[in-house]
Amino acid sequence: MTEERTVIAIDGPAGSGKSTVAKAVADRLGLEYLDTGAMYRSVAFAAMREGVDPEDTEVVANLSRGLALTVGPDGIVNVDGVDASIEIRGPEVTRAVSIVAANPGVRDEMRRRQREWVAKRNGGVMEGRDIGTVVFPDATLKVYLDASPEVRAARRSKEVTDLSYETVASDLARRDALDQGRTHDPLRAASDAVVIDTSDLTVAEIVDAILGQL
Ligand code: CDP
Repeated sequence: MTEERTVIAIDGPAGSGKSTVAKAVADRLGLEYLDTGAMYRSVAFAAMREGVDPEDTEVVANLSRGLALTVGPDGIVNVDGVDASIEIRGPEVTRAVSIVAANPGVRDEMRRRQREWVAKRNGGVMEGRDIGTVVFPDATLKVYLDASPEVRAARRSKEVTDLSYETVASDLARRDALDQGRTHDPLRAASDAVVIDTSDLTVAEIVDAILGQL
């Protein structure tokens, strides 16, 4: 008999609380956790390192197919043998990532890897932008986290202490527009997702609300 597979899809914009919540949900359920944003960030990092123009669709898609990439639950990211954990969160990668993520060839490759990751573990908690809509439309539970732009920018600027609130807020607004407006797999809530506005909720409250759906 095959054990029932549990896949929890957590989507939403930057600063909505996805990473913290997804990790806590994974811990509570004894599942592994995958940050798919780190995968798109790694492709952008690799392109910059190779001196490839992020807008060069064909070259970047090819590069993504050949990439040796591991994303650990502890935030440790290895790209072609290099520890890129810090650099993938830096301003250069953050500026380029939405262009790379709009590339359909890159998305095909990342989607393939994400499905393989779940198949190997027979389940998991995955966070991103298109997990419930595209990668796992048959997920056990789909969650869409959101929060007001001000709350999201305030949360993110606490993490990125070397940038001003204004810079962080305008980067978030720019990425929201690119991620929601792109042709391939745009950011949106799946029609059957549980939508949670996290603006006024603590992490524990959000986690309990999610676990209460199972
Ligand atoms: O952590 P933050 O919310 O800033 O972003 P992230 O989750 O690291 O994702 C970085 C970028 O990758 C997003 O702005 C999207 O452009 C892209 N992304 C995507 O297209 N699809 C995913 N499943 C995850 C991320």
